[in-house]
Amino acid sequence: MRATILDGKKLAADMRADIAAQVAKLKAETGVTPGLGVILIGENPASLSYVTAKEKACADAGMVSRDIRLPATTTQEEAIEWVRRLNDDPAIHGILVQLPLPKQIDESAVIDAIIPEKDVDGFTPVNVGRMMIGKRCFLPCTPHGIIQMLLSAGVETSGKHAVVVGRSNIVGKPVSHLLMRKAKGGNATVTVCHTGTADLAAFTRQADILVVAAGHPGTVTGDMVKPGAVVIDVGVNRIPDATRPKGFRLAGDVDFDSVSEVASLITPVPGGVGPMTITMLLYNTLESAARSAGR
Ligand code: GUN
Repeated sequence: MRATILDGKKLAADMRADIAAQVAKLKAETGVTPGLGVILIGENPASLSYVTAKEKACADAGMVSRDIRLPATTTQEEAIEWVRRLNDDPAIHGILVQLPLPKQIDESAVIDAIIPEKDVDGFTPVNVGRMMIGKRCFLPCTPHGIIQMLLSAGVETSGKHAVVVGRSNIVGKPVSHLLMRKAKGGNATVTVCHTGTADLAAFTRQADILVVAAGHPGTVTGDMVKPGAVVIDVGVNRIPDATRPKGFRLAGDVDFDSVSEVASLITPVPGGVGPMTITMLLYNTLESAARSAGR
């Protein structure tokens, strides 16, 4: 293997230790303990696993999490009512509604109900709009985590060609914006590819920095990558595997074996982007609590 591993677990642990120290300081100086309200609707196993990890990370950082688990039959009105309760709760500084939501619920109606001051996922129209025009906001966690990883590894983005595969609201669209904005970890020339792209490999081969958030394993193989490229794999796919205790293994959207022969830096799955997403959620929740304490 040629590529160096970009270790998200290690960076996340370092940042979480720093966040925990800041949480302790905020508590000691203001009496405010950062609180995260987490709404999980239904029994999607991946969502349950993410939410459990987020709640554990909160506790480890000295924050409190309020854990609201609702049945898959929850109505949109009930979901919005829970969001309103958390909006009104002074002990809660951040609200997370785990996506996807069951089919009967319009995701955007629920997200729109979160007050922007507590939108630590950075998903509400106000935060997205503020990000786009460069105003202070909560940055969405996965895209922000990716930029932090590039910065920590000393990857130059300015003047480089970044290619993003995927155009979701959670990753593709916001990370393409962060990579292009005039800021540290940005100033790249960005191409966004998606399911309508005619010849994906023709674009990925031009990438100095390749961010893959397509939602399908094996979307990018070694022959699609420029030698020396930095490859960020955002995918988390459960591949059935009877030899594993849980009956599956995790794989990214990138074919790790072939791409790591060509790339200079690559994020593993698991242990790459995932731990950074949770870390940036803690970061935003701390920031929100500090603001509410007048900091
Ligand atoms: N589902 C997949 N990723 C995310 C995320 O970052 N936040 C929320 N709320 N739901 C998700």
